[in-house]
Amino acid sequence: MNAINPLAQPDAPDLLECLSIQHARLNAALETTPKHQWRNQYHPDLSPMGWHYTHCHFIEAIWLQERILGNAPRARRDWHDLYFPELSPKWRRGGRLPPAEDLLDWGQACQHRHLDLLRQMPDVRRHPLLANDYLTGFLAQHHAMHLESLEQVRWFARLQRPATLDTRVPNPQPQRPNEWIDFPGGETWIGSEAITAFDNERGTHRVHLGPHAVCAQPVTNAEMLAFIEAGGYQPGPHWDPEATAWLQETGIAAPLGWRCLPDGTRVQTLPDGTRPLDPQAPVVGLSWYEASAYARWRGARLPHEHEWERARQAGALHDTGEVWEWCGNTFHPYPGFRPYPYEEYSSPWFDGQHYVLRGGSAWSDPLLKRPSMRNFFTPDKRHVFAGLRLARDL
Ligand SMILES: [Fe+2]
Repeated sequence: MNAINPLAQPDAPDLLECLSIQHARLNAALETTPKHQWRNQYHPDLSPMGWHYTHCHFIEAIWLQERILGNAPRARRDWHDLYFPELSPKWRRGGRLPPAEDLLDWGQACQHRHLDLLRQMPDVRRHPLLANDYLTGFLAQHHAMHLESLEQVRWFARLQRPATLDTRVPNPQPQRPNEWIDFPGGETWIGSEAITAFDNERGTHRVHLGPHAVCAQPVTNAEMLAFIEAGGYQPGPHWDPEATAWLQETGIAAPLGWRCLPDGTRVQTLPDGTRPLDPQAPVVGLSWYEASAYARWRGARLPHEHEWERARQAGALHDTGEVWEWCGNTFHPYPGFRPYPYEEYSSPWFDGQHYVLRGGSAWSDPLLKRPSMRNFFTPDKRHVFAGLRLARDL
C-alpha cells in the first residue's frame, strides 16, 4: 500500500489577489442591481442583496480590526445585531439595512483599509491566523460563497416575473455519451491539507471503498424531462416516506426554474435570463429529495462523497463545476476533526440533517471548485444550484 499522501503539498494561489477579486465582484454585483432591489427578500431562505454585501465587509472588520488588531469595534455595535447571522432573523434584514449609498461607501472603505492592513502591517502579518495567508483565503472564500448566494437572489427575482424568452439563445452543449466509470474498490485518500481547505476538509485520511461505478456526466435536462414525462414526480417506490411527505406538501413537479410559455413551450429561467431548455445541459434546481428519487427511479443511487472525490481526483468525472452534485451521505466530521477558525464554522451542521454536495456550480468561484470542497444543505433546499450524478454498486 502506498503510504505517501499525494494531497499533502498542494500549490497555494495568491490569496490576497483572490480577496481583491472578490471585493470587485461584490461591488459589481451591487452596482448592477437597481437600488430598490437591494433590500428585497425574494425567498425565505435568502437574505437581501444589500445584506450579503455588507455582511461580507462586516465579517472582515470583525476578524481584522477586532480579533487581530484588538481595536475597539470600528463596526458599530448595532451592526452586530444586523450582520451576525445568528443575531438577525432573515426576514428582518431588509427593513433594517441602512440607505443604499451608505452600504457601497462603507463597503469600499472597508476594502481599501483591509487590503492595506493585509499588505503592509507587520503586526498583522505575524498573527497566527495569517500564517500562509490563511485568513485572507478564508475571507475570499467566505465572500465567494455569498456571491453565489447573490446569484440565487437574482434567480428568485427573475422567477417572480412572467416567463418571456430572452432573445439570446445559449450555445447548446455538445451531446456526449454518458458512460459508467467502474472502480473495483480499494483504498483512497480523502481530504486536503491545502491552506484554503476548511476545517471540515482537513485531516487527509484513507478510506476503503467497495466496488462501484459512477457516471462520467451529471444527469441532463433531457434525462430529467423523461422522468417528468414518465410520471416520476408522482409518489411511488422511488420516493422514500420523508420525501413523499415533502412532495405532497409542496406539490413540486419539475426542477426549480422550469416553466412553460403561454404556447406550452418548456423553458428554463436561470439568474441571467430565460432560455429554451438545453437537453444536454446538467439539470439544476433539485432538492436532495428529488435527486435521490430520480436516482432510485433509474435503478441507481447518489454517490457517497468519498466515491465522488476519488473519481474526481482520478480525472474520471466530466462537467464538474457546472452544478453542485448531491451526495448520498450526510455531512460528518473527518477523523481527528478540529474546529477552525471558530467553533461554529462546521460543527453545528454535523447534525445528520445536512447532506453533502460536491463540485461547485457554474455560479461558484473557481476557488470553491477543488476536489475536496464540501458543501452541505438540508434535503429540501432547491435554490443551491444543485443537480446530481448517478452511482451504483458493482
Ligand atoms: Fe457569512
